[in-house]
Amino acid sequence: MDRRTFLVGSVAAVAAGAGACNGFAEDKTAASLPPFTRDFLFGAATSSVQIEGAAREDGKSESIWDRFADRPGVIADGSNPSVACDSYHQWRRDVALLKEMGLQSYRFSIAWPRILPAGSGQINERGVDYYNGIIDALLSAGVRPLVTAYHWDLPQILQDKGGWPNRDTAERFADYVQILAQRFGDRVVHWCLLNEPQAFTVWAYGHGVHAPGKSDRGQMLRAIHTSNLAQGAGFRAVKSARSHAQVGIAHDMELFDPATSSEADQQACERFRAFRNLWFLDPVFTGKYPDAFVNGVPYEEMGWKSGDERRMRAALDFSGMNFYGGRTLIAAGEDWELLKELNAHATTRNGYEPDTMERACLWMANRYSRPVVVTETGGGDEEGVSPEKAVHDQARIAWLRNAFSGIRQAQLKGAAIQSVHVWSLIDDWEWQDGFKDHLGLAWVDFTNPVQRIPKDSARWYADLIRTRRLAT
Ligand code: NOJ
Repeated sequence: MDRRTFLVGSVAAVAAGAGACNGFAEDKTAASLPPFTRDFLFGAATSSVQIEGAAREDGKSESIWDRFADRPGVIADGSNPSVACDSYHQWRRDVALLKEMGLQSYRFSIAWPRILPAGSGQINERGVDYYNGIIDALLSAGVRPLVTAYHWDLPQILQDKGGWPNRDTAERFADYVQILAQRFGDRVVHWCLLNEPQAFTVWAYGHGVHAPGKSDRGQMLRAIHTSNLAQGAGFRAVKSARSHAQVGIAHDMELFDPATSSEADQQACERFRAFRNLWFLDPVFTGKYPDAFVNGVPYEEMGWKSGDERRMRAALDFSGMNFYGGRTLIAAGEDWELLKELNAHATTRNGYEPDTMERACLWMANRYSRPVVVTETGGGDEEGVSPEKAVHDQARIAWLRNAFSGIRQAQLKGAAIQSVHVWSLIDDWEWQDGFKDHLGLAWVDFTNPVQRIPKDSARWYADLIRTRRLAT
């Protein structure tokens, strides 16, 4: 698949996310590693917008992605998420697939506009019933539900009131997750509050490539701050409803290295790392924004209020990361339009390397001293439209071997990594890329999304889960 390259000013900054499966060196040590221990859970992930469809059914209201996708030219293939994999009707097939593969954890998200069509207030019981059905079926199949409260589908009605740049959205989010915890928390223990805040703030309000498609530095900075406030408020809301809940995040982790050993490139790299990763992690763990900009944190532009340090901070139970193996080189330079004060720009993106997953896991485990959950990893490919009942996705298998090997090696070095979730359980609607790329362990025909046809990678994964060894 094409990497998502955003042209920002004169800088080509490549966004984190799924990358092509090909073009990386295979890890030769995987076969010699000791097996995964029994308490490590193998899972897969999806999200509501990307699989459910039924965009206006049973009381669901419009989300920002429903609205955005209707704008001409923003989705690569002109598609929209109104049907996607039709999981709103076909979810039993998804659960059957999980069971067939022996998966132990399923990370899926709940659509805010399906539960609270007006963004807050009146609960849509048909939406609650839908997720109750999935949760109960997962538990009967022996699969642990890991629920993402927000995977980018803000009710449009809240965007009309300002969206994430509006601080009130943090409070609306807290009210919403408290309802989730009250309604589902008797059976769901594990929660991810926000999926990839960097993506739904920077890409959405800064670069304008994600819903709601705004390109405004001030809105972007305020959206970031609201998302950090929402994590703190959301954490307290879930815990107040269910004290035993295990609550974490799903950060889109990227690795950065200086392009050269020059002092200027090293400092630029530090600032870039600080903005791209730490700004979305440190606030919740420490209550502070680290230095990323040459002239300090732009508190005023972000709408900072006294006491926000305390509001953002939360004793998360785990740190989650979505990691797709990329590594970007950073050089000094002032040409990133949105954030000139970083004095840094991404020059080159290296392909997949065997040790990036290990490095990312160790970094996450060591910096925040929490158990780590790999909330997503995987790779995309253009796998054609007719699988004739078989997809021989060797490149995906090779990448997953690399990724799991990295996780195992990080564990052997002491990192507490609890589980991994392959993105995605099934081919899905990939946001601005539409249906072009396929990331699933199972193939879906989007012209008639009824069947889920396991690819070779699904069989490979099922074997790994059974044997717990990377030997084959
Ligand atoms: C990260 C996002 O959370 C998910 O929604 C997306 O589809 C994958 N990366 C793959 O691009």
